[in-house]
Amino acid sequence: MVPRSVRITGWGHYAPERVLTNADLEKLVDTSDEWIRSRTGIRERRVAAHHETTATLAAIAGKRAIAVAGLDPQEIDLILVGTLTPDYWMPSTAALVKEAIGNTRAAAFDVMAACSGFVFAYATADAYIRSGMYRHVLVIGAELLTRFLDFSDRNTCILFGDGAGAVVVSASDEEGGGLAGMEMTTDPDGAYMIWLPSGGSKSPPSAETVRRGEHFVRMEGKETYRYATKTLATSALAAISRAGWDPSEVDLFIPHQANIRIIESVAKGLDLPMDKMFVNVDRYGNTSAASVGIALAEAVDFGRVKVGDKIVFVAFGAGFTSGAAAVEWTADPAHGRRAESVQPVASVRAPVDWDSVDPMPARLTAVLEDRQGPQVPLDDVVPGEPEHAPREVPA
Ligand SMILES: CC(C)(COP(=O)(O)OP(=O)(O)OC[C@H]1O[C@@H](n2cnc3c(N)ncnc32)[C@H](O)[C@@H]1OP(=O)(O)O)[C@@H](O)C(=O)NCCC(=O)NCCS
Repeated sequence: MVPRSVRITGWGHYAPERVLTNADLEKLVDTSDEWIRSRTGIRERRVAAHHETTATLAAIAGKRAIAVAGLDPQEIDLILVGTLTPDYWMPSTAALVKEAIGNTRAAAFDVMAACSGFVFAYATADAYIRSGMYRHVLVIGAELLTRFLDFSDRNTCILFGDGAGAVVVSASDEEGGGLAGMEMTTDPDGAYMIWLPSGGSKSPPSAETVRRGEHFVRMEGKETYRYATKTLATSALAAISRAGWDPSEVDLFIPHQANIRIIESVAKGLDLPMDKMFVNVDRYGNTSAASVGIALAEAVDFGRVKVGDKIVFVAFGAGFTSGAAAVEWTADPAHGRRAESVQPVASVRAPVDWDSVDPMPARLTAVLEDRQGPQVPLDDVVPGEPEHAPREVPA
């Protein structure tokens, strides 16, 4: 049945506990907290733990969004995961998420549009529901970028972080609200401005590609910056005009969190004050496809969005892709509290007869462990412990 409207009914996010500060990065590359803050606005970012993968981050954010929507996981008809850092090349991360959230009936696939992945997946969900094919779609943006960064390359390793953001998009029998205008563009002129050279069919992985570091993200920062400032404003304006709105009517912009200077220049270009721009790049860095999803969930939970507000999601990324959505908000923000019932754990079934290597980059582990102070054996410091058998002292 074709719905009267298509609305966001649930939202949620998950950010790994471990924080990587600019001071930590100073120990890895020739950079400074001052340089990173003044050029990007980033103070810290999150790093997934050894046991976490893109699918587990995605599943926690997804379960939170489902709880907020007041649904059972089995009611989800389709799962879309926007990511450029999947657990494997196949199966899709969405397939792993399906099992992890306890759903046996949904279709599931990944959306590959780099940092625009969440916005592209949201548009895809809206189209499926509008066609009458599905009623509830779980849309997740999830990334584990710290495993695809060269922690000796100061151009890239300071920018990115890990996390996941999700929404449930649902058919509604009520008129109005939801997605009002959409814009999606892809400009292959920028195909090699941000890219990951090896591992695909053009350059299959080999000892040689690994030696050359071609399994890490590469980026032309200046070109990307130029494209981003222009395209974010143009895409946002296109979506706003399709909705029949004027930019001054928009209550809150939720832009891709890549760099505070990019966000500031978009505000300037649209002649809007910065308090209309939601910003959390200082705490998470650039989480690529997860960025808009995390920012949306925080904006609603922090009380920045209320029923009837006009909000605009806008993102850009490798490809170059760009996407914007003008949305009239309809859900009760208080429902966000339902996410508190979801613990930050998710498990994905391990493959049979296969042991992966330790996924954490060695340089990163070293700096994070170093920060925790000297390693003192616990049996020497826990008070009240029974005495241990004397150790053999080498002669
Ligand atoms: C990456 C970025 C922050 C660099 O900022 P910038 O102002 O363009 O800086 P530049 O590249 O001009 O570098 C200026 C100087 O700082 C140096 N530098 C670069 N990275 C540095 C770092 N992490 N720490 C200290 N110095 C650094 C450069 O080597 C250069 O030195 P030089 O003048 O001696 O040659 C900026 O270009 C950017 O944000 N680009 C967009 C990236 C993006 O959003 N990517 C994701 C897209 S989804």
